[in-house]
This record gives sequence, structure tokens and C-alpha cells, in this order.
Amino acid sequence: MVGAQWGDEGKGKIIDYLTERADVVVRSQGGNNAGHTVIVGSEKYVLHLLPSGILRPGKTCVIGNGVVVDPVHLVREIEDLRRRGVAIKDNLVLSDRAHLVFPYHRQIDELREEAKGRRKIGTTKRGIGPCYGDKVERVGLRTGDFLDEAEFLKALRARVTENNRLLKALGGRAVSFAEVSREALRAARVLRPFIRNAVVYLHEALKSKKSLLFEGAQGTFLDLDHGTYPYVTSSNTTSGGACTGTGVPPNRIGQVMGVMKAYTTRVGEGPFPSEARDLSDMLHAMGREFGATTGRARRCGWFDAAATRYAAMVNGITALAVTNLDGLDTVETLRICVAYKLGRRTLDVPPSSLRDLERCEPVYIELPGWQKDTSQVRTFAGLPAKARAYLRRIAALTGAPLALVSVGPARDQTIVVP
Ligand code: IMP
Repeated sequence: MVGAQWGDEGKGKIIDYLTERADVVVRSQGGNNAGHTVIVGSEKYVLHLLPSGILRPGKTCVIGNGVVVDPVHLVREIEDLRRRGVAIKDNLVLSDRAHLVFPYHRQIDELREEAKGRRKIGTTKRGIGPCYGDKVERVGLRTGDFLDEAEFLKALRARVTENNRLLKALGGRAVSFAEVSREALRAARVLRPFIRNAVVYLHEALKSKKSLLFEGAQGTFLDLDHGTYPYVTSSNTTSGGACTGTGVPPNRIGQVMGVMKAYTTRVGEGPFPSEARDLSDMLHAMGREFGATTGRARRCGWFDAAATRYAAMVNGITALAVTNLDGLDTVETLRICVAYKLGRRTLDVPPSSLRDLERCEPVYIELPGWQKDTSQVRTFAGLPAKARAYLRRIAALTGAPLALVSVGPARDQTIVVP
């Protein structure tokens, strides 16, 4: 399951729905920059690193090699859930190859953002970019390093020394090795029982015919390669990331579900051709569209089919889940961006160049709104005809079949499209 837009598509809810039929739920990229909201009965959970499957008994959750793990944060998440009665024992596997996020990564993230001024990315300041940077630079520390405390401390000391030089150069303050190592060792002791070779675990699961569900974080246009670079996150959020981030090969992936909102949102900076101030104001006034990780108000706009068409292409989307349909219940006239105008040219998909994308004008079609409450509807046939027409149109423009429609955050507010 991948996000077909800029993240925040409502993946937490859809993954929770899909998890019912999966044996193993796997995270393959990103870190605690993600925030997946799941509502179970009257309880609300916001998960950042743990796969959403953790909320269902009998499911195993895997944090794959492609994820970057802030160990202190992960321990906090585990302890919070345990306090709320969620059992976390042998239902969690943490890859020994996942890279670790340390406080110096977070501080560097923040300082680099400040230095960018108006051109800041608008990161979540969770240290994601600097941690992946270390991974690519081949100097990162991994969860597997926790298994030998003496070696781990030696490596961490070297990293702290180097990063303190960098922090000073960026105008920050040095981190204390004593403090960073104390916190890390405490986290390591809690995490150690979960750390193992997750690749082997997943292949054993495949051999015993278990079904695997890959939980994508962020969205297609935040992908390091396919997104609106440099206004992206530092991992591959598209379906290919599920393979490199777990060690499960492409020919074992049967289906790709793309999740998209019935409109578009984006947090952080960067171009957003179908952004619409009036729609933003309306959704915020309804109390919708505030980020799960940072609480920031999301920027909102009309459904962008040029974007989702590209997402369908690069992810190989075989089924679509459309969320937040109910967010549009009161709109009189709906707009859909079907293409972009760039000078005299019409583009069916977003251009690669940021400068070009910034100059793109959306080409809109208009559809009449249904102006009825959809949040109580439970069947596709029960939706207003105009809502069905809208859904069919956005699926056709995207180029993938409609499978699920979500009309609210609760588990039962999910419509299966026949
Ligand atoms: P980073 O991942 O913290 O480095 O942030 C890079 C960009 O990705 C920023 O625009 C963030 O707002 C965005 N981003 C990261 N994670 C998420 C997410 O889970 N949902 C939506 N946007 C995200």
C-alpha cells in the first residue's frame, strides 16, 4: 500500500482495514516522520514507527531494513502502547539492518532548515534526512550494532565527535556523548529482543504461505526520486521501496494499492499546482487536515489527476482506495485538475523540473457536488449518484480501478466497491 499523493492520504486507516486479512505487516522506509492515525472503537492511536498491524492481535509487524529508527522514540511508542494494553512481544521484528537516528541528526536537520530560510523544505525535524545521509555516506550505525555494546559505543563516540564538529560549523551546540550513549543503551536493552535478520524472517513467512502487507509511509510526491525534489523526504516512498527496504523481491509483490484523498493536501513547502485557498479554509474550519506528527495545518487543493496518473504509473497501482470523500460533502461545485499548462504545452503528468512545476497552471474540469452527508453510507450503491460519478471520474483519470472508499475515520466507515 502506497500513498498516491503528498502523504497524509489516510493510509493509517486503510492499512488497518487491510491488516485484517494479512499475517505480517511490514514498514520498509521512512521513520518517525510518518504519523498514521488509526481509530479503534473510541480509542485513537497515532503510530509513527510501529506498523499499524500492532493493534490487531495475532499479526506480526516488521520494521524493515529501509526504515530509519530513532531508538528512543521507538521505545517510547512501544511503552505507550503497552500502557494502553497493547501486547508487544514476539509480534514485533526489528531488522538488524535498519539505520539509527540520533539526537545530532535531529539537530542537523533543524539547523539546515533554518539556514535555508525561505527555501526550507519544511521537514518534520525528526533527523530523517541526515540519518539517510549517513547511510548513503556509509558511516551510519544500525540496530544490529546494538548487539555488541562495546563496539557500538566505540562507533557512536566517533560519530558524536565528527557530528559535533559539524554542529559547531552550522552554529549549533555540541551533543554530550555521555547523554547520547546513556539514552541509546537504555533503548537498546528494550529493543534487543526484537532485533533479528528480518529478510530471513520475511522469506520464511513467504515459504509458509503467509500473506505480507507492506505499509508505505509518506506519498509518491515525497519520494526522493519521483517527488518534487528537493521538497521531498529522503526515502523511496513508491512501491519499489517496499522491495529494497525489506529484501522481498519484486516478483513476490502481487498487488499495489494506491491510497489517495478525494482532494489533495500537502504539508511542508514545495509546489502544489491545484492548491485552493477556499478549500483549505473550508476543511480547516471543519477541524480537518491538521498533521498527525507535527500538528501543522495542511495545505489543501482540488484533486490532481495529473499527479495521481504519474503515481499509478510509477507504483504500478492495481487498486485504488479513495479516502475523505465526506470532506467534500458540502461543496457545491467540485474541480478536478486533469492536466497542467506549461506555457503553450499541455502536460498529462508533472514535469521533472521544479522550476517547470512551479510555473504549471492547472487545467480544471468541474463536476456538480452531491451536497449530502456520506459519512453514514456503507455501500457503493448507497452513495449519492453525483458522488459515484465523481469517484468513477477520478479513478478513470488516474488510470486504476476503484476498490475502497472511506467516508470517515472509523473502521466501519469503509465502502468496498463491487
Ligand atoms: P522529512 O521527511 O522530515 O525530512 O520532511 C521532508 C518533507 O516530507 C516535508 O515536506 C514533510 O512535511 C514531508 N513529510 C515527511 N513525512 C511525512 C508524512 O508522513 N506525511 C506528510 N508529509 C510528510
